[in-house]
Amino acid sequence: MEAAEKEEISVEDEAVDKNIFRDCNKIAFYRRQKQWLSKKSAYQALLDSVTTDEDSTRFQIINEASKVTLLAEIYGIEGNIFRLKINEETPLKPRFEVPDVLTSKPSTVRLISCSGDTGSLILADGKGGLKCHITANPFKVDLVSEEEVVISINSLGQLYFEHLQILHKQRAAKENEEEASVDTSQENQEDLGLWEEKFGKFVDIKANGPSSIGLDFSLHGFEHLYGIPQHAESHQLKNTGDEDAYRLYNLDVYGYQIYDKMGIYGSVPYLLAHKLGRTIGIFWLNASETLVEINTEPAVEYTLSQMGPVAAKQKVRSRTHVHWMSESGIIDVFLLTGPTPSDVFKQYSYLTGTQAMPPLFSLGYHQCRWNYEDEQDVKAVDAGFDEHDIPYDAMWLDIEHTEGKRYFTWDKKRFPNPKRMQELLRSKKRKLVVISDPHIKIDPDYSVYVKAKDQGFFVKNQEGEDFEGVCWPGLSSYLDFTNPKVREWYSSLFAFPVYQGSTDILFLWNDMNEPSVFRGPEQTMQKNAIHHGNWEHRELHNIYGFYHQMATAEGLIQRSKGKERPFVLTRSFFAGSQKYGAVWTGDNTAEWSYLKISIPMLLTLSITGISFCGADIGGFIGNPETELLVRWYQAGAYQPFFRGHATMNAKRREPWLFGKEHTQLIREAIRERYGLLPYWYSLFYHAHVASQPVMSKWVNFTYTSYNDTQLYFLLGSALLVHPVTEPKATTVDVFLPGSNEVWYDYKTFAHWEGGCTVKIPVALDTIPVFQRGGSVVPIKTTVGKSTGWMAESSYGLRVALSTKGSSVGELYLDDGHSFQYLHQKQFLHRKFSFCSSVLINSSADQRGHYPSKCVVEQILVLGLRKEPSFVTTHSSDGKDQPVAFTYCAKTSSLSLEKLSLNIATDWEVRII
Ligand code: GLC
Repeated sequence: MEAAEKEEISVEDEAVDKNIFRDCNKIAFYRRQKQWLSKKSAYQALLDSVTTDEDSTRFQIINEASKVTLLAEIYGIEGNIFRLKINEETPLKPRFEVPDVLTSKPSTVRLISCSGDTGSLILADGKGGLKCHITANPFKVDLVSEEEVVISINSLGQLYFEHLQILHKQRAAKENEEEASVDTSQENQEDLGLWEEKFGKFVDIKANGPSSIGLDFSLHGFEHLYGIPQHAESHQLKNTGDEDAYRLYNLDVYGYQIYDKMGIYGSVPYLLAHKLGRTIGIFWLNASETLVEINTEPAVEYTLSQMGPVAAKQKVRSRTHVHWMSESGIIDVFLLTGPTPSDVFKQYSYLTGTQAMPPLFSLGYHQCRWNYEDEQDVKAVDAGFDEHDIPYDAMWLDIEHTEGKRYFTWDKKRFPNPKRMQELLRSKKRKLVVISDPHIKIDPDYSVYVKAKDQGFFVKNQEGEDFEGVCWPGLSSYLDFTNPKVREWYSSLFAFPVYQGSTDILFLWNDMNEPSVFRGPEQTMQKNAIHHGNWEHRELHNIYGFYHQMATAEGLIQRSKGKERPFVLTRSFFAGSQKYGAVWTGDNTAEWSYLKISIPMLLTLSITGISFCGADIGGFIGNPETELLVRWYQAGAYQPFFRGHATMNAKRREPWLFGKEHTQLIREAIRERYGLLPYWYSLFYHAHVASQPVMSKWVNFTYTSYNDTQLYFLLGSALLVHPVTEPKATTVDVFLPGSNEVWYDYKTFAHWEGGCTVKIPVALDTIPVFQRGGSVVPIKTTVGKSTGWMAESSYGLRVALSTKGSSVGELYLDDGHSFQYLHQKQFLHRKFSFCSSVLINSSADQRGHYPSKCVVEQILVLGLRKEPSFVTTHSSDGKDQPVAFTYCAKTSSLSLEKLSLNIATDWEVRII
């Protein structure tokens, strides 16, 4: 290890030092907006400037004080979405508009302008369900649905727009003073950070001067808000009051503080609000540093004069104000009007894409550590899983596997024959995942560096030279993934002949892509570094990691000539990252509180589109006590991305190192995961094609019957999991939502009515999991060494009856790795429904075909009140066959074993 490397690693070894990071008061654009807003200078819409074309309606807005005009555009978008863009009408130079996030140009619906009163304009979508009331003075937009105001924009007058100004510093500062009505007599220019902003020893010189924007949204009748990851915070967003706003600024925060609104690795500037009868979303498409303030007013009186008859119904309602502020760019905001949660999920994925369909192996268990030392170590750990009969799917190699942190290379001493190592894993039907970070070691003998340098593929500094910063390899330059040519080139590095030693079982892990720059301001890149198209880093900081993962995923698809699904884990992300793979919650700590916080953090990611998410099992930093490690495996087995990981100087913690009893507990948790893989895979298919989150909390139950303080979550709509997150727990209070629901304990089959909290006794081997009455969960009846070993194994169905004695469920299956499900429709999508004592297996999607020989071997029916006289199976060719069964009156459960019902064909099981 080189001295520089050692030094850098020790930088990372200290716990989080919050002084490295800025709080809101240290952020100049925040201070400027706050100061200006206290002055209340209003904007007015000039409604005689209205023009309408196929796509949008445009009009000017003028700042009363400065007389500078803005241009507003309102679009109606298919699926009940509205888009509002506000930009300078004639900016000195173009302002940054975020590219590549919207999946395609959204189809617009023509908005019809109806006559408003003088001083107002009403736009309606063709169906007339939704209307946009634009009030001229002061400028305000109300989104009205069925005579009810749902969202008001700028009703608090927080529209804020700093116009680009001429470069001459003195003059521009002076003009800004006048134009923004900022009283600078007491404040000096430096405090306002107009052209220069200091933080510690760092000075941010702003070539374009101040360019901040802001806008407020009032959500009528809404008090429950969610989203805007990533923060180590509760699932429901809190009122920010006088405290710091939620910050969206991608940062490498080692051992981040929990219950904190500081920005960490990724940003999705999108929030959802939920109330009885309506769920809505606000997607603020901006990739610069962003702050969000949230404040709920319990109840409010509207002035009828402003709103006319529409407001009469809104007399007393609570409302929540959301104030978005970004450092630069334009205002480009999408209002997703629901009305159901499912509609909002679809509306958001229509804009940003759905969760990529993961290869099946990636839903298995992943074994990681910084670092598995060498080929021998990999071999021994791999063998350890077999010896202890614990399934796992992927072995991971961290930075040390490379030649001095030169990605795409192998340390020749430690990994002299990477292909041999991969062949060993392949023989066990397992995979290898290796790390590839965005910083490239400055080394004239490193071909990746030389090629990137020659082609001008690095981010530049102010002087136009390659930006240099320190990261794991020492001094490095950073690939400019915002440049499509860089992405194309980077993708080509994954081709098998180019990436020496790689095979088709090797997959990728993208880390440090906030980007992390040791000793940089807030451990990241200077905001005035320059990207492709001459854009400053400040404009697009939050989307850098998104592009890194995009290029990596594309590279994996290309190396297989478009045939195979990629798997790429990323630490940094943005809206739309779900299209490229999985996300994890970074450098957490081996403490109970971090196990707890993983639940709201993953819930938040999941409902903002990123279903494939997980937290390091055991906690990355430190050494978990054995009980914590066991509990973490138990929770992680029920979270989407399931990987054990530990930092360099943490003790080894492979699952068999904690005594027989604990090995057994961890084995059991991992095996439960594998047993449920058919359900997991079906949930991911649902996320992929129907935009529904894998993990959620209130989606199937309105807030009136859900409990935010408890750490439970749902997987799909069938399973509720309430992991044990307290040491030495003997009971857990589990809230079971839905007053019309019945819930069954997954192991004991005991059942409870929903809408109440039950006290469940727990031992160290208990994972409190409940199945909702009314659901059918497909499982595998035997567990193999890895997902690959289980392809042909039999299925079981767990049928939990609702209070009405019925249930439904689905199973999706395909080859588990290719795109044939998409291009050749090679898949099976089956539907199971239980009604009037008959369980029917039928096709859920006739387009799909997949020649599976697998059978359903076991069926368990829970909630069957009466012992049957006999049970028969009835196949599609008309044959009936009696089936042996066991009925347990105590648990009202019926068990059918040793069945042989082909999963791919239609059949019925009749209970008489
Ligand atoms: C970062 C990652 C961590 C990884 C380490 C070394 O801290 O978050 O998971 O092990 O870098 O690559």
